[in-house]
Amino acid sequence: MRILIKDASLVLEDRVERGDLLTDGRKIVQVGGTIDAPCDRVVDAAGCYVFPGFIDTHTHFDLEVGSTVTADDFVTGTKAALVGGTTTVLDFATQERGMTLMEAFRKWENKAKNSSCNYGFHMAMSEWNEARIAELPLMIENGVTSFKMYMVYDNMRLSDGVMYEAIKHLVREDCIIGIHCENDDILKARVKELKAEGKISPRYHAVSRPNLVEADGVGRLMDAACLAGGPAWVVHLSTKEGLAIARRARERGQEVYLETCPQYLVLEESMYDAPDGAKFVMSPPLRSVEDQEALLNALSSGDIDWIGTDHCSFTMAQKAAGKDDFSQTPNGGAGVQNRAEIVYTRAVKGGYIDVVQMGQLLSTRAAKLFGMYPRKGTLQAGSDADIVIFDPDNAHTIHAATNLHNCDNSPYEGYEAAGKTRDVILNGELVVENGALLVSGKGEYVHRDRCGRYRK
Ligand code: URP
Ligand code: ZN
Repeated sequence: MRILIKDASLVLEDRVERGDLLTDGRKIVQVGGTIDAPCDRVVDAAGCYVFPGFIDTHTHFDLEVGSTVTADDFVTGTKAALVGGTTTVLDFATQERGMTLMEAFRKWENKAKNSSCNYGFHMAMSEWNEARIAELPLMIENGVTSFKMYMVYDNMRLSDGVMYEAIKHLVREDCIIGIHCENDDILKARVKELKAEGKISPRYHAVSRPNLVEADGVGRLMDAACLAGGPAWVVHLSTKEGLAIARRARERGQEVYLETCPQYLVLEESMYDAPDGAKFVMSPPLRSVEDQEALLNALSSGDIDWIGTDHCSFTMAQKAAGKDDFSQTPNGGAGVQNRAEIVYTRAVKGGYIDVVQMGQLLSTRAAKLFGMYPRKGTLQAGSDADIVIFDPDNAHTIHAATNLHNCDNSPYEGYEAAGKTRDVILNGELVVENGALLVSGKGEYVHRDRCGRYRK
């Protein structure tokens, strides 16, 4: 199948160029200028931006959380991702205590086999010992070159010493480890205090985890990485204080990668007071307008590297587990479909970034760091034909009811988006046309190379 995209605004890595793009089979074969080649299909992209397929670096599909499981599995989650322009998700395969890394990998492989977009896995580790360390080469052989550890959650939490050892070990392999940065001891003490005072509604979720709870975690990560001599990657950064600490670490010469999420750019803490405030219970929690502004400016300056969703969806019935105690609410929200349209609206139309930066934040930098570049993350001859045609003038309102998420609520309900993904090409095939999913179940596993540490 040869697809010729005509009259596009091609979003390249350093500029936007008017022109055509040709795919042949699974690859992009020609980019730019006027192309008049024989093809099976012509797609008119006049008035639209053409991006490399977006990469969501942070999803949780089919994740068991306590006694419940996320509303979206790989079947529903990857359909929603694709319609929103995400052609590759990196989901967190999770090694529960007592499980081997290979068991976790096989479990996630099985969960993901009917995916509609391409997928890879980070490995979230709950143990760090001789047995797990011995399995790391097998993970790398299987294309898993990024890992995660949590400072929180009793079933996953690991110590600062372990984090230090893991960074020190993994840097030698050109692998990277992302850290969920929060001070667990302090947030737990605050949860206890708040509950004793009868403060049980969703807004106290945010009160229990104020900015300094994240900043403390970011600071400990920066120091551990500095001492270990390896890179630091902060997942879902949400605060101006955490950002300032990460910037200071860079100033002292550290290699620091920062991810934020759309929710920290457009939602804010007063939303917990809404009747459906439980849908905003996620960690880190929603912050202030000042935090949003700091993060948006950091997108603009290039200090934040990429934007992932942290999609981790629960229905309102599941969220009701916390109706008498906010700390029992399953953490997370739905967003995998809406990332590009929100970033376009808030950050591009809002004047913080241009579309070239949008392409970097949603695709190129993630492809580089996570070992997929130049196969993915760029519009180059020879790259995979994962392509998004984005209509900057398709203003619409986000509703849970019209999202493909298998979830009855959206943190972005009512959000007025200025643009929308129109068409998507996945592995050389047109799979989304005019916003409608044409083809499902064709996602493939992305075997990733070692990390492309572009800040080294
Ligand atoms: O609240 C969230 N983000 N849940 C998903 C797990 C995590 O902490 O990333
Ligand atoms: Zn997460």
